[in-house]
Amino acid sequence: MAAPHAYFQKQFVPLAEARIGVMTHAFNYGTAVFEGIRGNWNEDEGQIYLFRLPEHFQRLRRSCRILKMVLPYSDAELADITVRLVGMCDYQEDVYVRPIAYKSSEVLGVRLHGLEDDLLIYVTPFGPYLDIEKGARCGTSSWRRVEDTGIPARAKVNGIYVNSALAKTEAFENGYDEAIMLNEDGHVSEGSGENIFIVENGRLITPPVSSNVLVGITRQTVITLARDELGIETIERDIDRTELYVADECFMTGTAAHVTPVIEVDHRPVGDGKRGAITAELQHLYFDILRGKNAKYAHWCTPCYLPARQAGSKARA
Ligand SMILES: Cc1ncc(COP(=O)(O)O)c(C=O)c1O
Repeated sequence: MAAPHAYFQKQFVPLAEARIGVMTHAFNYGTAVFEGIRGNWNEDEGQIYLFRLPEHFQRLRRSCRILKMVLPYSDAELADITVRLVGMCDYQEDVYVRPIAYKSSEVLGVRLHGLEDDLLIYVTPFGPYLDIEKGARCGTSSWRRVEDTGIPARAKVNGIYVNSALAKTEAFENGYDEAIMLNEDGHVSEGSGENIFIVENGRLITPPVSSNVLVGITRQTVITLARDELGIETIERDIDRTELYVADECFMTGTAAHVTPVIEVDHRPVGDGKRGAITAELQHLYFDILRGKNAKYAHWCTPCYLPARQAGSKARA
């Protein structure tokens, strides 16, 4: 039986007991940074594998640095807490781990300095986000991506997600599955929660990290797999909106979205309006790796449960 727990105020507690006060600074001003980490259920092994756990905590540290936050845990401690927490929750399905480092002082006054920081982590079941088989129909948003000179998108700041929420809901209300945001200069930035790639003449193209994108871990994963497994190079350069219309293929990457084909942009089919061949190959590689089924990339997967067959029953790793 699943038992939802959280790591809150330096201890493991039942999820229902992890509660913040209404005056918490992060709640009032969005002064928090977070991560989204997938735990992928492997049915055959009775195992949950956390995907690229150290990379997520590295990014959390970078986000903390930008928001002048202290994260007084070593990499090993963060990994240990997360693995123990997932073990405690005991889900037997795909999960999402949400660490949040936040300004925890219960005090008024918008600023970053002179405040206490805390870390909380919770785990929740989480299935597919976009349709990875059929693909997503996307619309260019009227909302522009936040600029590094406003709120830096490379930091996964909670408050930034108002920008994403505006774009996502606008897309939904206009009948699309997902939004594509442009930068203030009119070039393509990213989706509301995904990086974006196009395929052109057998090469991948994606906006550079200076395009106000979150520097995605799935983005990096796909660049690596394309290069090392398929011999396909990725060019990081500005992308015009209309390049999306004429691309051979287009796809989005993200922890939630995995690798999702984009089959339509602004009511124009991308390629033949179906998942492209390179997108399909990348998906195939990626989904095997996620669930710990590719020994070459086992180092990207952190198991959370003791193997059921050895232990007799599941337990914390
Ligand atoms: C705005 C945004 N861009 C891109 C991504 C993809 O990043 P990652 O692949 O690390 O999940 C996310 C999701 O975390 C996101 O929220």
